[in-house]
Amino acid sequence: MTDPRPVEPAPGVAAGGVGAGPAPVVELAGVSKVFRPTSGGSRPVEALSGIDLTIREGEFVSLIGPSGCGKSTLLRVIGDLTSASDGRVSVNGKPAANARRDRDYGMVFQAPVLFDWRSVQQNVELPLELTGRPAPERAARAKAMLDLVELGEFTDHRPWQLSGGMQQRVAIARALALDPRLLLMDEPFGALDEMTRERMNLELLRIWERTGTTVVFVTHSIPEAVFLSTRVVVMSARPGRITEVIDIDLPRRRDVDTRELERYFELVTRVRESLRQGEGSAANAARVRAEGLSA
Ligand SMILES: Nc1ncnc2c1ncn2[C@@H]1O[C@H](COP(=O)(O)OP(=O)(O)OP(=O)(O)O)[C@@H](O)[C@H]1O
Ligand SMILES: [Mg+2]
Repeated sequence: MTDPRPVEPAPGVAAGGVGAGPAPVVELAGVSKVFRPTSGGSRPVEALSGIDLTIREGEFVSLIGPSGCGKSTLLRVIGDLTSASDGRVSVNGKPAANARRDRDYGMVFQAPVLFDWRSVQQNVELPLELTGRPAPERAARAKAMLDLVELGEFTDHRPWQLSGGMQQRVAIARALALDPRLLLMDEPFGALDEMTRERMNLELLRIWERTGTTVVFVTHSIPEAVFLSTRVVVMSARPGRITEVIDIDLPRRRDVDTRELERYFELVTRVRESLRQGEGSAANAARVRAEGLSA
């Protein structure tokens, strides 16, 4: 089986020489996003405000925050699926639009979005077809990615013959097909039961270790964020801001025992408290705004 990029990710250890540090993959500076109503009546929605964040090669960064705080919007801004209203967005040292054109990232959404008329293998081959790769290369690469997510025996199945977790693994295999330096994942395991979700977490970590890809991961689950991440970005709502970035200083290699560590529980509590504080400050800001309006 071909391993796309057998890089051992090592945050804090220089990729390009001692002291250089891993290269920035995502750089956000002063990013804001305002959704303006397309027709009159409703007010503009300030979805993101003053977002500054640098994500370096090999990191696994989770975005967590209350519903509507702008997590998906932030991921879509990074992936150039929507544009920022203000600020600078750079991916692999270039504007996000160029990174999208160069297919520098793969995306996985909550629903796997597979094509039912195509086999599992053909679904994974799709991005390789779109980039004009020759058929033998497509076939070999898709098979390697399906082996990576342990679906090598299901290449000829149709998506509807697979369970939800298996379908999500096909989506991950497809997102990895072009060997992206960046994987953007928006609640990919949100619809799965707890046990499947925990298994998928372990599999994702294994893939992350083997490919060395950088991951930005949106989740509502505090334990999932802590278990997976090297850093957790806590956001508050209206407008979506980063309230805190928490280093997850657990051993790099995570396994089932990680969830039993005292430090793991401490970090879960830490993230929970940070979310609560964010909620409090968002409520205060809303109150001040309301009082300002009624004054
Ligand atoms: N295309 C859009 N047009 C107008 N408003 C939008 C659009 N997309 C998102 N919004 C608004 O921006 C805010 C942030 O939405 P977003 O989907 O990013 O939140 P989220 O943190 O991902 O929430 P959830 O956890 O529920 O998925 C919300 O108030 C939402 O209504
Ligand atoms: Mg969302």
